[in-house]
Amino acid sequence: MLRVPHVTNYLSEHFADDAFGTLAGYERYGGYKAARQAITGMAPSEVVALVKESGLQGRGGAGFLAGLKWSFMPAETDKPKYLVCNADESEPGSFKDRILLERAPHLLLEGILIGAWATGASKTFLYIRGEYAFPAAQLERAIAEAYDKGYLGKRVMRSGFSHDVVLHRGAGAYICGEETGLLESLEGKKGQPRKKPPFPAQYGAFGMPSTVNNVETFCHVPHIVAKGSDWFRAFGTEKSPGTTIFGVSGHAVRLGLYELPLGTPLEEIVYRHAGGVPEGRRVKGVIPGGVSMPILPADQLDVPMANEFLRERKTMLGTGGIMVMDDTTCMVRAACVITYFFRDESCGQCTQCREGTGWLNKIVNRIERGAGVPEDLDVLIDVAGKMEGQTICAFADAAAWPVQGLLRHFRADFEQHVHERKCPFPESFQL
Ligand SMILES: Cc1cc2nc3c(=O)[nH]c(=O)nc-3n(C[C@H](O)[C@H](O)[C@H](O)COP(=O)(O)O)c2cc1C
Ligand code: SF4
Repeated sequence: MLRVPHVTNYLSEHFADDAFGTLAGYERYGGYKAARQAITGMAPSEVVALVKESGLQGRGGAGFLAGLKWSFMPAETDKPKYLVCNADESEPGSFKDRILLERAPHLLLEGILIGAWATGASKTFLYIRGEYAFPAAQLERAIAEAYDKGYLGKRVMRSGFSHDVVLHRGAGAYICGEETGLLESLEGKKGQPRKKPPFPAQYGAFGMPSTVNNVETFCHVPHIVAKGSDWFRAFGTEKSPGTTIFGVSGHAVRLGLYELPLGTPLEEIVYRHAGGVPEGRRVKGVIPGGVSMPILPADQLDVPMANEFLRERKTMLGTGGIMVMDDTTCMVRAACVITYFFRDESCGQCTQCREGTGWLNKIVNRIERGAGVPEDLDVLIDVAGKMEGQTICAFADAAAWPVQGLLRHFRADFEQHVHERKCPFPESFQL
C-alpha cells in the first residue's frame, strides 16, 4: 500500500547551501541535536528500538532492517565493538552516496555517532572508494571539525561515551563494497569476501564484533531520532518507509539525483522528474537499481520503487541507481558491457563466479559479433542459473541477474543477432 503521495526531501533539503557541509552551517540547521538527545537522554537499547520501529531498511543494496542488524551486536562482551561505514559505492549506476559525502558529511557523522551509541561501538572505520578524492577530503575536514568541537574523541559532548572515526581510502575494487571483502581490505589483505557464518556482528573488523552500514542508511538516523518513527513511517510504503535518493543515468533528459519516497512509481521518476528520453525516441528498458538488478521493459514502469513491489517483477531496488535505455539500444551490447564488468571484478575465489562470469561474457560477445548459435541462449540461462546462490558472496548472483533479466524481456534481440548473424541495431552505443 502506498501512503504518502507528496514529496519531502529531508536528506537533501539543505544541499543548495554550501555551508551545510561545514560544522557551523550544519549546526545552524539543528545539526548534532539528535546525537545529543540520544547520548544524553536515551539508553542505547531505546535507540535500537526506535530505529527498529522506524522500519529503516539498509540503503546499500540488500535492504536489511538497520535496527535489527544493530540488535545483533553482542551486549555483553569484553572485546571492543566497531561500526563500519560502507562508502565504497562502486555499483555502476549508483552515485547517491557521493552527494551525501560531498554535501552532508556532518549528517553522516551524526548518524554514525548515534549508531555507535546504540551499539556500544568505540570506533568507526569509514571505508571510502579510492576514486572519491573530493568526498574523502570533505570527510577528512568534517572529522577534524567534529574532533575539535568535542563531538568525536574522548567524552563525546562531555558524556561518559567516547568514539573515534578512522577514514580509510580503498584502491578501486567493486568487491570491496561487499561487507566482508571490505573488512579484509580494511585489514590490509586482499579484498576477498569471507565465508559466513561467522557474521560481522560476531567476527568483524580485526576479529571484533562489528556492524556494517551504508552511508545513506546512517544519514536517515538523525532524522528518525529527532522526529520519531511515526514521522519516518509517514513517507514511503508500509514495508519500505522513508525516502531514498534515486540516481538517474543513461538516456534521460534530466540526469541526476532525486530524493523521493520509496514506492514512487518508476515511470514518475523516469518521465516526470527525469524528463523521459530525448525527443523522438521511446524507452526500451530500465534497470531499476544499479547494474546488478534485472532490467524492466518499458511496459512495466508502473512498478512502485520498493522491494515488495519490485520482487513481484523479478527485480529489486538495489541502490536505486536507475539506468534508462532508449529504443536505439542493443540489449546484447548492454549484456557485453555488463558481463565484462563482472568478469573483470570477480575476486576469483569461487569456481561458479570466476568461470561463470567469463563464460557469460564470452557467449554474449560471440552473439554480438554474429557468431552465436541458437543453443547459446539456453547455455546462458543454464550458466547464470548455476551461479545463483552457490558462492561465498552475492557477487555471482549480482552477475547472473542482469543476464537473466535481459533474456527474460529481450530474448528477441538475442535471437535476431543469431538469425541475422550480425547486430541489427547499428544506431546503438559503440562497444
Ligand atoms: C558485490 C557487492 C558489492 C557491494 N557494494 C556495496 C557498496 O558499494 N556500498 C554498500 O553500501 N553496500 C554494498 N554492498 C552491500 C554490503 O555487502 C552490505 O550489505 C551493506 O554495506 C550493508 O549496509 P546496509 O545494511 O546499510 O545497506 C555490496 C554487496 C555485494 C554483494
Ligand atoms: S562470488 Fe565471486 S566475488 Fe564473491 S567470493 Fe566468490 S568469486 Fe569472489
